Amino acid sequence: MARTISSRSRFTPRLELRPFRRRDLLSVLAAIDGSLPELEQWLPWAHPAYGRAEAMRFLRESGNAWTEGRAFDFAIRPRPDPGYHLGNISVWQTSQRERSGEIGYWIRSDATGTGIATEATARVTDVAFSELSLHRVTLRIAVGNRASERVAEKLGFTHEGLLREEVLVRGTWLDHTLWAMLEDEYPRRRDSYFEAGWLEGP
Ligand SMILES: CC(C)(COP(=O)(O)OP(=O)(O)OC[C@H]1O[C@@H](n2cnc3c(N)ncnc32)[C@H](O)[C@@H]1OP(=O)(O)O)[C@@H](O)C(=O)NCCC(=O)NCCS
Repeated sequence: MARTISSRSRFTPRLELRPFRRRDLLSVLAAIDGSLPELEQWLPWAHPAYGRAEAMRFLRESGNAWTEGRAFDFAIRPRPDPGYHLGNISVWQTSQRERSGEIGYWIRSDATGTGIATEATARVTDVAFSELSLHRVTLRIAVGNRASERVAEKLGFTHEGLLREEVLVRGTWLDHTLWAMLEDEYPRRRDSYFEAGWLEGP
C-alpha cells in the first residue's frame, strides 16, 4: 500500500488546507455552483448538472483515498472563516518506484485573481517534497489556461512540453502542457516561497 500522511491541517499565511469531511457537502456545492462556467472549460468532472450525489461521492472517495494513501485532497479555507469553501487542491503519487506525483487544483470563481491557487500550491508542493518525499512533481495544464500557467510560472515549475489530446472535456480533446519540479530544485524554490509570503515561518 502507498504511504499516507497526517490528516492535520496545513496552514499558509492566509489559508487553512485540511482533509474533507462529510459535513463539507453544502459549502463545496455552493463553491462549485457559482464556478461551473469556468470549471467546465478545463476539468472533465465539472458539468452543468453537477450536484449533491456527485459531491457526496467525492467526499466519501476522498476520505478513502487519504486513508489508503492513494491521493490527498485538501479543502482550501480562509483562516478567518474556515466554513467558507475556496476550492480544492490535491496531490497524488503517479509512480511509487520513481517517487513521482502530481498536483491539481481549482478555486471558486469569485475568489480568483487574489493569489489563492499560488499560495495553496506552494504549501502542497511542500507536502509533496517534504512529507511524501517525492523526487518529481508535475502539473498538467490545458493549453489556453493562462491563469493556471501563471500559477506554475510563479512557483518556478519548469515547462517541459506538450501532451497532445490528453484529456476529453465536454466532447473536445484538449492538449496539456507539462510542468515539473525536481527534489533538488525545491529547496531554492521553497526559500522564494517564504520570501513571497506564500509560506509561513520558517
Ligand atoms: C486556474 C486557477 C486555479 C487560478 O486560481 P487563482 O487563485 O486565480 O490563481 P492566482 O491568483 O494564484 O494566480 C493567477 C494568475 O493568473 C493571472 N491570470 C488570470 N487570468 C488570466 C488570463 N486570462 N490571462 C493571463 N493571466 C491570467 C492572474 O493575473 C495571476 O497572475 P499574476 O499574479 O501574475 O497577476 C483558477 O482560475 C481556476 O480554478 N480555474 C478553473 C479550474 C482550473 O483551471 N484548474 C486548474 C486546472 S490545471
